[in-house]
Amino acid sequence: MTVIKAALLGFGTVGKGVYDAVQTHRQELKTLLGAEVEIAGVLIKDVKKERNIEKHVLVTDCFDDILQIPGLDVVFEAIVGEEPGFSYLQRAMEQGCDVVTANKVMFAKHGAQLLDIAREYGVKVGYEATVAGGVPIIRTIAQQLQVNKIGRIQAILNGTSNYILTEMRKRDSEFQEVLQQAQELGYAEADPANDVEGNDAFCKLMILSQLAFGSQPEWKNVQVEGISRITLEQVQAAKEKGLRYKHVAEAIKEGDEIRASVRPVLTSANHPLYSIEGVDNAIVIESSLAGTVTVQGPGAGSGPTASAMLEDMAHIFQGAPATHPEKNRKKAAAYA
Ligand code: HSE
Repeated sequence: MTVIKAALLGFGTVGKGVYDAVQTHRQELKTLLGAEVEIAGVLIKDVKKERNIEKHVLVTDCFDDILQIPGLDVVFEAIVGEEPGFSYLQRAMEQGCDVVTANKVMFAKHGAQLLDIAREYGVKVGYEATVAGGVPIIRTIAQQLQVNKIGRIQAILNGTSNYILTEMRKRDSEFQEVLQQAQELGYAEADPANDVEGNDAFCKLMILSQLAFGSQPEWKNVQVEGISRITLEQVQAAKEKGLRYKHVAEAIKEGDEIRASVRPVLTSANHPLYSIEGVDNAIVIESSLAGTVTVQGPGAGSGPTASAMLEDMAHIFQGAPATHPEKNRKKAAAYA
């Protein structure tokens, strides 16, 4: 049986989720791809930390070791921040590897460049996991709304913030208490300020803007406000009036101009995002032919994010089973 050799960069909530999902969905992957997916290496920061990784897997804190895995086909990136994620993926692609990333901070800034590099080296980039966890929004826009002109995107893009606002309202819980639960459930970022201050949703909105409109607004012109200043008293007062706070990311294209914002909005029952609860995300897309399309589902957490990454990998290799182990060397030579 052909083997697809994969490496994982990062073994936090997302990286571990991918590792586990490859084991639990081994048969499905085999049936779909006609190949065995093997996690051949894992890049981590602290090699001394105890982890549940099989003995035969290379566990290293040195990225060069990962690149030297013979016949490496695909790199899953689930580390935090612009760097070293961008440089690692660039090097992996230059060596002929396909890449799949969940790194929204990196992709918001360098996504267009990564896609250019991928074209240059004849490899693929999967980035479904950068936006809205398990919700298939990237592929929906990229493949099902290509001809449509998209005029507006309105979305809930941070699972942690939506979970906090929902639980504060439903259980009359304090912000800090619910944030801690979101962290325990694996929803929040390593630094949860990115979730509750709106930066995470901002990066995801910029990725959607690039895909849907072909460009991003000037970042400095985007109003970004999180949910950290919303008090339990405000949530309760809104609830008594039948209103709900939602953290809304919005981008509108008018002519050549894109206007965008990320901010808390007090919604009533007729707002399209009013009923999106818990860790769910939703994206409402206004398009010229299809009309208003809404996609909803779990926006954070190990399983949903791993799902997006594995589906990306399946898409890359479906119908193009892992090539000969010599592939990487040949590609590298071809573009040297
Ligand atoms: N911390 C993110 C969220 C994870 O809560 O939405 C998914 O990107």
